[in-house]
Amino acid sequence: MYRFVFTQVLSRFDPEDVHHLTVRGLRLLSVTPVVKKLVHRRLAPRDPALRVQAFGVHFPGPFGLAAGFDKDAGCVEAMSALGFSHVEVGTITAHAQPGNARPRLFRLAGDRAIINRMGFNNAGAGAAARALSRVRGVPAIVGVNIGKTKVVPESEAVQDYVASAGELAPLADYLVVNVSSPNTPGLRNLQAVELLRPLLKAVKEVADGTPKRTPLLVKIAPDLADEDVDAVADLALELGLDGIIATNTTISREGVASTETGGLSGRPVKARSLEVLRRLRSRVGDRLVLVSVGGVEDVDDVWERLLAGATLVQGYTGLIYHGPLWANRIHRQLARRMRRHGVTDLREIIGRTAS
Ligand SMILES: Cc1cc2nc3c(=O)[nH]c(=O)nc-3n(C[C@H](O)[C@H](O)[C@H](O)COP(=O)(O)O)c2cc1C
Repeated sequence: MYRFVFTQVLSRFDPEDVHHLTVRGLRLLSVTPVVKKLVHRRLAPRDPALRVQAFGVHFPGPFGLAAGFDKDAGCVEAMSALGFSHVEVGTITAHAQPGNARPRLFRLAGDRAIINRMGFNNAGAGAAARALSRVRGVPAIVGVNIGKTKVVPESEAVQDYVASAGELAPLADYLVVNVSSPNTPGLRNLQAVELLRPLLKAVKEVADGTPKRTPLLVKIAPDLADEDVDAVADLALELGLDGIIATNTTISREGVASTETGGLSGRPVKARSLEVLRRLRSRVGDRLVLVSVGGVEDVDDVWERLLAGATLVQGYTGLIYHGPLWANRIHRQLARRMRRHGVTDLREIIGRTAS
């Protein structure tokens, strides 16, 4: 049904227009108490076998919505109701900014991929804080992903992230330092350990200072060299971070025909995302929570990521191609597969094929 709607209707319109319209609809669902509760009751993960704990937070299932869809934390409840076990909002910057010029979002339907160069369009940390303080009505686990304001120079990046963290860490179930989007000039330089150390240290101080101590993760790019992946992993351990999210979009165009600039997501990033996950797991074992994202399409991918050592798995591009029941379907099929394999707790399979 969704495939028909996608090919016959949605694919004929500008992808960003469709996105804004969708988010507006979801926002409406988020503020409609009875409907959102009904949808939540039908679609949110309820099977106890799917429950998983990570950095002290109890997730109703392992599969969540990756950052970039709900940039301003406007539809957290709707996305939770649709079956995502958690919603990572953002990337949010300290100051509101418009992002790059349109067009900046491109579908590569044949490759089951997307290229985006949105450039952190968002209403800023203050507006996001107000939106998050209104979230209620259905249980929702919210990750807050923060990034650098474009006009802030690299030399002032730490203060800029700290400002966002100060506003948002108290409202987050976990906080993510995003240093891996390709659409803010210079951002990915912050992944270099000598720049990343002071940044993560400063944000961690803020996250540690909230009443419940907000867990802190860092999100990395698939384009990092293997040694740099190891270096970030070692740094995360050294600083006592809670986890790593791998991966963001890639600047590689291997296997796709489009030459649009921006970050490529979806099926073409699948293999590298899995490779980075495996590398991280072999480096850190179970000392950090690993969140795997990139090219996840179905329950087979989720299963594979769990076996490779991810405690949580996320997706975004798959939502465009598989529609609003995507997360519900993945959780239902995952529960069924667990039963078939005699698995009663996800801890029995997380990292089982890791070296
Ligand atoms: C349109 C779009 C916008 C995105 N914006 C962000 C963002 O603001 N911050 C971020 O950390 N990741 C962002 N991402 C990356 C996703 O969170 C995810 O890491 C990446 O797309 C790989 O997952 P996927 O293949 O399931 O889409 C964005 C992805 C897309 C497709």
